[in-house]
Amino acid sequence: MAAGEVLLGAVEQIPTGEGRTFRVGELEIAVFHTAEEQVYATQALCPHRQGPLADGLLGGTTLMCPLHDRTFDLKSGCGTSHEHLGLVTYPAWVVDGQIWVRPEPVQAEAAE
Ligand code: FES
Repeated sequence: MAAGEVLLGAVEQIPTGEGRTFRVGELEIAVFHTAEEQVYATQALCPHRQGPLADGLLGGTTLMCPLHDRTFDLKSGCGTSHEHLGLVTYPAWVVDGQIWVRPEPVQAEAAE
């Protein structure tokens, strides 16, 4: 484990196709477990009106916010329905069934 990497626990705690919110220090991070057995981490609240992103609908790596249906690509954080809305993402990965996250934000590139 390198400095700054945080263990969130077993990947099984997040059913495939769903997300969960974790507190990492002062941060709230939404972690998603896709049907393809990948994990992705983003800011917990939607940039539109603070919807709880972990409760959103996941299809592949596209996340739909539960409040007003804005969609985001989990890989890039880019908004796919409203391109000016992007998510902060965090590096996340699984080793031996355990989720790790590095709580260093990666801001989505604003669409031109
Ligand atoms: S709060 Fe997420 S789309 Fe409105």
